[in-house]
Amino acid sequence: MSYDSNTFQNLIGHAKEYGYIFQSSEIYDGLAAVYDYGQNGAQLKKNIRDAWWKTMTQLNDNIVGIDAAIFMHPTTWKASGHVDNFSDPMIDNRDSQKRYRVDHLIEAHAETLGKDEAAALISAMEQLLAKDDLAGIKQLIIDNNIKCAISGTCNWTDVRQFNLMFSTELGSVADESSTIYLRPETAQGIFVNFLNVQKTGRMKIPFGIAQTGKAFRNEIVARQFIFRMREFEQMEMQYFIRPGSQKEWYEHWKAERIKWHTQVMGFPAERLQFHDHVKLAHYADAAVDVEFNFPFGWKELEGIHSRTDFDLKSHQEYSKKKQQYFDTEINQNYVPYVIETSVGLDRLVLATLSNAYAEEKWTKEDGSEDSRVVLKIPANLAPTKLAVLPLTKKDGLPEIARDIIAGCRGSFPCFYEEKDSIGKRYRRMDAIGTPFAVTVDHQTKEDGTVTIRYRDTMTQERIHMSEVKGKVLEAITV
Ligand code: GAP
Repeated sequence: MSYDSNTFQNLIGHAKEYGYIFQSSEIYDGLAAVYDYGQNGAQLKKNIRDAWWKTMTQLNDNIVGIDAAIFMHPTTWKASGHVDNFSDPMIDNRDSQKRYRVDHLIEAHAETLGKDEAAALISAMEQLLAKDDLAGIKQLIIDNNIKCAISGTCNWTDVRQFNLMFSTELGSVADESSTIYLRPETAQGIFVNFLNVQKTGRMKIPFGIAQTGKAFRNEIVARQFIFRMREFEQMEMQYFIRPGSQKEWYEHWKAERIKWHTQVMGFPAERLQFHDHVKLAHYADAAVDVEFNFPFGWKELEGIHSRTDFDLKSHQEYSKKKQQYFDTEINQNYVPYVIETSVGLDRLVLATLSNAYAEEKWTKEDGSEDSRVVLKIPANLAPTKLAVLPLTKKDGLPEIARDIIAGCRGSFPCFYEEKDSIGKRYRRMDAIGTPFAVTVDHQTKEDGTVTIRYRDTMTQERIHMSEVKGKVLEAITV
């Protein structure tokens, strides 16, 4: 399905209106590229996080989870290469004082060109970026007469690298030795704990360590809602393997992750694709993005990286502590190689909402028009699973409805509502993405049956109220 930008703006408005995502500190006009999750967004995010955690740590016998601190010893980031290499090439327009990430500036210009011209420009850019040819990139911008959107001029500075890490001071005295960073990735918390986990868990290679948590990047150009944020959450897994087996495990994890995105997240296969990295990060010998077709085009959702022994070797060198494993099967000591899977939780939320959001219109039997906005979030991920709605506020119907909810309490989140017409209540549940709605009416008092309505098809059927819980449980078990 393709979207126009209006639909994307509608989706952003919908996410706010229905308690999914708010701008951070909105009463102070917000903070750029920082967002808060509301009651429904926080639950959706938790459901996705739990689904990932379950797949990694319960469906794989040899993967365990940890929770490392956000603050780490500053030498960590020297060893990982982030102090020296974690930067984006930027250019400033002297007239508007506006700073651009050069790839974003060139990509935006490419969108105004014909298909072939755009492809040639992007390919030239990628080749120059791969060579870190900053002067060449500036020349490309000038040769293509790429202007600043604000000043309309080509009065550009040289292209410079800007480090993306946020720094702060530890303790009360601010000097160079007290500078620490907010982690730009969760992975390093895993690497520095490799031996702790391997020894205390008696782990045998191959094995994995998984972690979810906040990461921070001073993105100069933050855009596209929760796609590129300054504070975001990652879900990363480092898989420690024998050197030489990296190709085989890289392919294994590529296949596993695509399977997860389709089977657990419910994304249609045609909205996912692989995109090989042209420019490899400083730590990788192979890398691929799992891209999702967002409302604004194909963009990275997850990275799968063959990180070699770069990180462990570097931590060994900087810490002067051996980061080795004795492999009893081959009687050898070695620094393990690593395959990493790294997915952004906020991007998964955005992909889920993009895939679920639909503005539907149809003609009813009597010829009149009807419409709804619905979030077709897969039942296993939906924040609320079941709405229980008494037809009226009297005749004992609310009590029966509350009894049904009491029977489901602790198994999955339910929602009770008795205000407004049943049609309006169904529409609200559609908008929130609740997959099942049960209506209690006068017949319920006679024979114990209720009407169950299915969000996606809007079809209804009569079932006994004792069947409701089982039906929902069956649908949310993946
Ligand atoms: N440890 C490897 C690593 O951090 P990455 O490709 O830089 O690799 C992994 O990031 C994932 O984190 C991305 O695929 C994306 O989903 C998410 N991510 C990265 N930067 C982000 C940002 N500014 N806002 C939201 N998500 C981001």
